[in-house]
Amino acid sequence: MASFVSPIEIKKQSEYVEKIKLLVGDKGLKAFVYTLGCQQNEADSEKIMGTLQKMGYQITENEKEADILMVNTCAIRDHAEKRALSIIGRFKHYKAENPDIIIGVCGCMSAQEHQREKLKHSYHYVDFTFGTGALHRLPEFVYNALNKKKRYFDIDLATPEIAEGIEALRQSPYRAWVSIMYGCNNFCTYCIVPYVRGRERSRKMEDILSEIKDLVSKGYKDITLLGQNVNSYGKDLEEKTNIAKLLSEISKIDGDFWIHLMTSHPKDASAEMIEAIKSSPRTSGHFHLPLQSGSDEILTKMNRHYNLERYLSIIEKLRENNENITLTTDLIVGFPGESEDDFNKTLEVIKKVKYDSVFSFIYSKRKGTPAASMENQVPSEEQHRRYDILCNIQNDISKQINESYIGTCQKVLVDGKSKNNEGVYTSRTQGNKIVHFECENDYTGTFKTVKITRADTFALYGEII
Ligand code: SAH
Ligand code: SF4
Ligand code: F3S
Repeated sequence: MASFVSPIEIKKQSEYVEKIKLLVGDKGLKAFVYTLGCQQNEADSEKIMGTLQKMGYQITENEKEADILMVNTCAIRDHAEKRALSIIGRFKHYKAENPDIIIGVCGCMSAQEHQREKLKHSYHYVDFTFGTGALHRLPEFVYNALNKKKRYFDIDLATPEIAEGIEALRQSPYRAWVSIMYGCNNFCTYCIVPYVRGRERSRKMEDILSEIKDLVSKGYKDITLLGQNVNSYGKDLEEKTNIAKLLSEISKIDGDFWIHLMTSHPKDASAEMIEAIKSSPRTSGHFHLPLQSGSDEILTKMNRHYNLERYLSIIEKLRENNENITLTTDLIVGFPGESEDDFNKTLEVIKKVKYDSVFSFIYSKRKGTPAASMENQVPSEEQHRRYDILCNIQNDISKQINESYIGTCQKVLVDGKSKNNEGVYTSRTQGNKIVHFECENDYTGTFKTVKITRADTFALYGEII
């Protein structure tokens, strides 16, 4: 059952903000936040930046000039953790030069006991760490660090509560994240998320709707509803509701904007939800449905609770009378026990479904998860071999699909100037396809129509009309 941070606690944290403001004053102190991981972390970092700004810090993109440095970490794969530790390692020099600098580590990696212990004992210059459920207590942690209180390593993860009202410093004036739920109950055997983000908690529908209305009134055009499994939204709320009802309420909001869902779990993709997605032009353009593996045996070992047949039936329903929907998925290569035959089944699915794009990952052992101690771990060399095969096949498919857009007109949301190409703008379709076009005017943050003239594996190119 979702529970909420008490008003007393929220008041206490606001008091810390006021006290920090007095300390920070108008000294022009700066804060730098490095974000790793998924959109949930991006969303959390926007709240962290919002809170830091409230305390009187200016947000900077230059870590060298920062008085407070934070790393919002990810634990999904070994690589993400290594990157976090290397960034934290880099911060040591700043503290050596200026002992007043505050260093905080938060997010999924720091919510694991062994990593927290490592940070405590091997990274002496880290002032505090906290997990994703304690984000609302940032003012308290910063205040204590400013007052040179003891280093603090938060362990409170058992019952994370939902904190409403933390203002986000949104990084885009037209694309926004809106968390609709937190945590995960699924315990896929490879995955660390349920251990570091706690159980599923849904936000109240009224809070979500008022956030979306506010965003739309401010001109936001593209809103992504976030949750580890948005299909089970509402199950834990006192007033029972579901994702289809939420989408139907969102569809009543006036305005020209797109809605994305990130992410859905096939086991909970109800017929009602699929209909809700298809019935609104705001949502019917794109769907991300993680498959993970095309082999039923592997899906069982992954504890995914669906088989290929059920998965394909969802895809079929999504496409029925809605052929233009773009589909994307997540796949894991080299899960323990994955045979050549299992792997080939995954390849067959991508050839059959023809996803617009695929996020494929080499299986990475996560400490404390069931898959980490499963037999028949696939050797790294073999994992890489399979990964390369899969990427090559998918790249060809993506290219073919993209080429089929040539000659069509696409509505796009303009993201701004392309980094490497003078005079070229970059944008995205509702289906999340990247579209580059040349233009003399800056239409960033607005919808435009582009005629597609060229395409490759990763992008479309065209002329604005
Ligand atoms: N909640 C989302 C996924 C979040 S993690 C969902 O279930 O769809 C994003 C992706 O990372 C997963 O879909 C999976 O493909 C991948 N992933 C998770 N744990 C992994 C691991 N241990 N090794 C490799 N990839 C992993
Ligand atoms: Fe991880 Fe599975 Fe939960 Fe997704 S649904 S976050 S893969 S445990
Ligand atoms: Fe990483 Fe945590 Fe997201 S582990 S992928 S940042 S939920």
